[in-house]
Amino acid sequence: MNLERRYQNVEDFAKAARRRLPKIFADYIDGGSFSETTLRRNRDDFDRYALRQRVLAPLNAKSDLSVTVTGRASRLPFGPGPVGFLGLYRKDGDIAVARTAAKAGIPFVLSTFSINGLGTIRKATGVAPEFQLYLDEDPAVNADHLEACRILGVDRIFLTVDTAITSVRERDVKNGFRSVDRMTPGLFWQFAQRPAWSLNLLRSGFPEVELVKGRAEFGRGAMAQAGNLSRRLDKNLTWDTVVELRKAWPGQLFIKGISDPDDAALAREAGVEGIVLSNHGGRQLDHGRSTVALIPEIREALGPSLALFVDSGFRRGSDIVKAIALGADYVLMGRPFAWAVAAEGEAGVAHLINLLESEIEITLNLMGLSSIEQLRRAGTEVLR
Ligand SMILES: Cc1cc2nc3c(=O)[nH]c(=O)nc-3n(C[C@H](O)[C@H](O)[C@H](O)COP(=O)(O)O)c2cc1C
Repeated sequence: MNLERRYQNVEDFAKAARRRLPKIFADYIDGGSFSETTLRRNRDDFDRYALRQRVLAPLNAKSDLSVTVTGRASRLPFGPGPVGFLGLYRKDGDIAVARTAAKAGIPFVLSTFSINGLGTIRKATGVAPEFQLYLDEDPAVNADHLEACRILGVDRIFLTVDTAITSVRERDVKNGFRSVDRMTPGLFWQFAQRPAWSLNLLRSGFPEVELVKGRAEFGRGAMAQAGNLSRRLDKNLTWDTVVELRKAWPGQLFIKGISDPDDAALAREAGVEGIVLSNHGGRQLDHGRSTVALIPEIREALGPSLALFVDSGFRRGSDIVKAIALGADYVLMGRPFAWAVAAEGEAGVAHLINLLESEIEITLNLMGLSSIEQLRRAGTEVLR
C-alpha cells in the first residue's frame, strides 16, 4: 500500500513507529510523567472547543496558510519542535526532519539532545536551523553552544526551562532508559526483535551526540551521553539566568516551557521575543492544565506583541486552527514528527506535513475562511 493511503493521520504514524522501534525508544517517545494525566488532558481539551461552519462565503482560489512571526516567515502555521535523539529512531533522523521542513518552507528547531549537530544540519539543508538550548551545569559548554549558533547563523534560540528536575516517566524507568550505557541482554533482545530498525541504525555503529562528542565528561555513545546530558542539566535556573542570556545572545530569544500566566508576564519583563506555552508534552509536571485551555490567559498576560508559540498534544489540523483562534501565533509538534521519521524517514515527514496542511485548509474552507490571517483576525468568533 502506498504512503498516501496507508497513513491518514498522526495516529497511523504512531502505530507504525511502535511496530518499527525497539520498545525502549517507542516508550520514550510516547510516555508522559506519572499517571499521564496531563498527557491525556492535552488531547481531551481540544474537544472543549467546537468550530463554526460558515457556508456560501467567498473564498480565495488558493488558501494562504503562511504566518510571519517576529519577522520570520513560515509557509505553514506549524512545524517540528525540538525532540531529542531523532537520530536514534532512524539513522540521520535529525537531518531527515530538517531537510523536509526546509523543503516545506517551515523552520526546524534542533534540540541540544540531537544526534546531528548544528553544522551538519546546516550543511544538509543549506539553512541554519533554530536551536533549542538546554543549559549545562558547566558554563563553558553553554558558551560553546552559543558560539556555534553565532558562527552558523542561527537567529532564534529556545531556552527550555521546564526540566530543571526531570520528572518520572514510569515507562522509561521500567525500560532502564537513561541508565543503559552499554548493550545488555535485554536491550539486545529488543533490538533483535526490530531487525529493520537495527539494520538501518546499527550498520555504521551506535551513534553519538555530535554536540558533545569527544567531551570525556559526557561519555561515549548516544545512550551514555543521553544520561549524562540530562543529569548535568543546570538545576539553578532562575529569571536572572534569562536576563543574562538575553544580554549574551544577540538573536531572538524564546522561553520554552511556560504554562502559567504569571510566568508569561515575567517573561515579558525579561525582554524575550516570545515564549512556547508548553508542558513538555505531558512529560514533566503531571496534573497541570492542558496548554490549549491556557492559551487565552497566557495571551492576555503576554500582551499582543510578544510571540506565543504553543505545543503539547497537537495531532490534527483542527487543533492548530483552534489554537490560532484562541490567540496563539504558531504551533510546534513533537511526537508526530518523531513517529513520522521513525516510521518512514523523509517521505513520512513530508507526508505528515502534507496531511496536516490539507486538514487545515479543508477545515478553514468549511469555516468560510481561506487564510490564517483571516482566522487570526476572527479569533474566538469562529469558536463555539
Ligand atoms: C521524545 C521526545 C523528546 C523530547 N526532547 C526535547 C528536547 O530535547 N528539548 C526540548 O525542549 N523539548 C523536548 N521534548 C518536548 C517537545 O519539544 C515538545 O514540548 C512536546 O513534545 C510537545 O508535545 P507533543 O509531543 O504532544 O507534540 C521532547 C519530547 C519528546 C516526545
